[in-house]
Amino acid sequence: MTTLYDNLKDVFNYAKVPYELRDRQFLNKTGFAMSPSHAITTIQDVFRVSAFVKSIDKAIKDLQKIYPDETLHILYPACGPLAPLLVPLLAYYKANKIYNETQLKVTFIDIQEGAILSLVEILKVSGLDAFVKEIICADAVEYQSKEKIHLVVLEAMQHGFTKEGHLSISKHFVDLLDKDGIFLPQEVRVDAVLAIGEEEYNTQWKDADLVASHNMNPEIRDQRVVLGSILRVNLETLRGMEIMELNENTRLVKCATHTIPHFEENHDKRIMLFATNITIYEDEVLSEYDSGITHPLPNMDICINFIPKADKRVTDLYVASGDTITFYYKLVGLPGFLITKENLK
Ligand SMILES: C[S@@+](CC[C@H](N)C(=O)[O-])C[C@H]1O[C@@H](n2cnc3c(N)ncnc32)[C@H](O)[C@@H]1O
Repeated sequence: MTTLYDNLKDVFNYAKVPYELRDRQFLNKTGFAMSPSHAITTIQDVFRVSAFVKSIDKAIKDLQKIYPDETLHILYPACGPLAPLLVPLLAYYKANKIYNETQLKVTFIDIQEGAILSLVEILKVSGLDAFVKEIICADAVEYQSKEKIHLVVLEAMQHGFTKEGHLSISKHFVDLLDKDGIFLPQEVRVDAVLAIGEEEYNTQWKDADLVASHNMNPEIRDQRVVLGSILRVNLETLRGMEIMELNENTRLVKCATHTIPHFEENHDKRIMLFATNITIYEDEVLSEYDSGITHPLPNMDICINFIPKADKRVTDLYVASGDTITFYYKLVGLPGFLITKENLK
């Protein structure tokens, strides 16, 4: 992936992308649109790219059995300037004559003009134009199609399932996906975990050669207090998801309610983490710490069993063992979780 990145990082020059489009980043109504200059670096997130590539390959094989005589239409919203989850696979299929353009067609969508200009150039120089159905520069949630969609590949999130519009975009595409189609990732699960920050982020990695799930320290992991799952995003939950409209720009999804348990030691030292585990397809998973998108995110807006003497903020939530809290997911320009205390005294 590093070699691939080195070979592709000059794409903005090849594609003559104006400088102002390379660094442009903004919030739109569903989330943060990362700048193309930053988005090209995501190809270096090795486990993420390889798990998606293997998953897409397996999903295509399965879809060919479900739809034997059809050209498979793949949608890749929020694809970024390199579309790294699919372009290397298409190049491999072409070079090894595994699938051709009568078997697979792809619609790429990105909201950043600089990303689209780069992608057009990449597909052209790789000789992959024939696989392209459409390349669209638009907000993915505006996309409509009368044609069947067999496979959706989406990764538009940051750690703690925050900032980017993965949930809004997923919800939109689930309604467009054919009933036997496949949506990747199959499930994103976010858990709320109480951990001792110093041990979680520092001690546990002292002797590790790599920060990844297989190197997590079992003793430190056992010391975590797991409140439980707060959000599962899969076909079933997306189809049944109720969205509360607070106003034109703010929508909420009610997630889960949990009670803060009583715990003995370090009672005032625990912070809350949002820990993400992703099933991309069947046994292809991304566990905590395997990717930038599955690094547990500390939530510093909630203080558990302590009230800080300094740096108090009006947005802080003070809770104690025995309190019940409810998690909501905000569908706004900067998506993420919101927590409320149920038993306000
Ligand atoms: C971090 S990059 C991810 C690229 C790619 N999915 C990957 O796996 O590497 C995020 C991309 O999503 C695009 N994006 C974010 N929100 C979008 C939206 N609502 N519609 C279309 N593109 C969006 C951004 O412009 C950016 O290029």
